[in-house]
Amino acid sequence: MRHANAHNSRRDFLLRSAALSAALALPAQRVIAQPRFERDPFALGVASGYPQPDQVVLWTRLAPDPLNGGGMPAAPVAVRWEIAADARFRKIVDRGEIIATPAYAHAVHVSARGLEPSRWYWYRFMAGEAVSATGRTRTAPAADDNRGQVAFAIASCQHYEHGQFAAYRDMAQQELDFVVHVGDYIYESSWGRNPVRSHHTTEPYTLADYRNRYAQYKLDPHLQAAHAAFPWLVTWDDHEVDNDYANDRSQDIDPVDAFLLRRTAAYQAYYEHMPMPPGMHTGGPNMKIYGTHAMGNIARIQLLDMRQYRDYHVCPRPNRGGGNQVNVLECPERMQPGRSLLGSTQEQWLESALTQSTARWNIIAQTTLMSQADRGPGESRVVYTDGWDGYPKAREKLLRFIAERKIRNPVVIGGDVHFAMAGDLKVDFDNEHAPVVASEFVGTSISSQGPSRARIDALLAKNPHVKFANGARRGYARFTVTPQRWDTSFRAVADIADAQSRVYELGHYVVEDRRPGPQRA
Ligand SMILES: [Fe+2]
Repeated sequence: MRHANAHNSRRDFLLRSAALSAALALPAQRVIAQPRFERDPFALGVASGYPQPDQVVLWTRLAPDPLNGGGMPAAPVAVRWEIAADARFRKIVDRGEIIATPAYAHAVHVSARGLEPSRWYWYRFMAGEAVSATGRTRTAPAADDNRGQVAFAIASCQHYEHGQFAAYRDMAQQELDFVVHVGDYIYESSWGRNPVRSHHTTEPYTLADYRNRYAQYKLDPHLQAAHAAFPWLVTWDDHEVDNDYANDRSQDIDPVDAFLLRRTAAYQAYYEHMPMPPGMHTGGPNMKIYGTHAMGNIARIQLLDMRQYRDYHVCPRPNRGGGNQVNVLECPERMQPGRSLLGSTQEQWLESALTQSTARWNIIAQTTLMSQADRGPGESRVVYTDGWDGYPKAREKLLRFIAERKIRNPVVIGGDVHFAMAGDLKVDFDNEHAPVVASEFVGTSISSQGPSRARIDALLAKNPHVKFANGARRGYARFTVTPQRWDTSFRAVADIADAQSRVYELGHYVVEDRRPGPQRA
């Protein structure tokens, strides 16, 4: 066991605070070393993320009055942190002090280092006399580990008004190594039927608005429990900013400058509330969040950003941006080659990351459904243009690349569509005999309302590559991955209005090594 070295911690602290001050060009402001709080400053909980074999990111945000701007003084505040090999903090492995600044809403992002691979650790924060809840986290397997097992969950789409987070209560009790969240962590707007609880503010536009929206979500005890139980990897979809936005175009086609200001605020608030690596937020309207995450040599995850770089939607409704249901015959623009969902830089990065991987399972964690999904009644073919069906040539190019380069065991996982799904991915979905190139799983929604039974039945009837679909239940998917087998369990919430609801297995599918396509288990 490595013991904390006071000299190193002090040096790290100086380096980290110097970097922060330089990055923000802060005026010299007196740091409150011993803050006093009348209410718990750690009400938003703790989180960890981005596990590597030797390090993990620790997160919290000081906010004694979370729903009203945080309630912190307009001054930097000293926060101490520690990570230990035991839950009682007897064997401290790394510790330090970091300055939480008003510029980042007193959020704390710190990398704990010098850790051992595939191990549990416990961490907490202290400010003045306040001590946070204890979080548990786990490092990634060693880079050359090709024997072990990796277990994780995929979460997405958690409309606060649509339901309680019983899915997270169940998730926190599972034996997982990490969680991947693929977007719609918050919703900016209200919709749906029979809400079970309410957003306490109107639609966010400013940084202050988004901070209050995140705070409301993060006060949920079951969401906090899932964060405190495992490290997370995160990417965003549209609702972290605005429904169906594309690059610099909002759904309402606001002036670009105005929308980019909104996106700037939304991206910063996202960073402030996620356990993302310090320095990932660089300011301004852009933020690179796509990247590769290795889980030993068992699995490698390519985590994508499907909003920031995409081409605009084709065939939108009049004077609107965003997606639309289109009859494919009436929207030939959809088939233009070169239309991109990821942007050319991210596309090239993804191809090279997939080629370089030697992992047994190659996971593409993206935010929606990759499969072709014909939703038309009868003989008509109708698709939704916000997902990959709006960018079919980009999908075909990626799947052809995966097939031609013989990428080992590609598995695409996603969210967004609010139904659980298992299916075959093909270069040509219209050819029943075309080979299966990759497997796909969509982990329904944590709480957001799903499509009707009739829509799911139509989807299953018209898309034979879709092997399983269920839109009736909210939940998430749990994946257990060994060198020989991929195992998917769809977890379903019996009563979305009840935080204590029973959560059960809705479906169970496996993928065998070198045999793409989910099989019913
Ligand atoms: Fe969603």
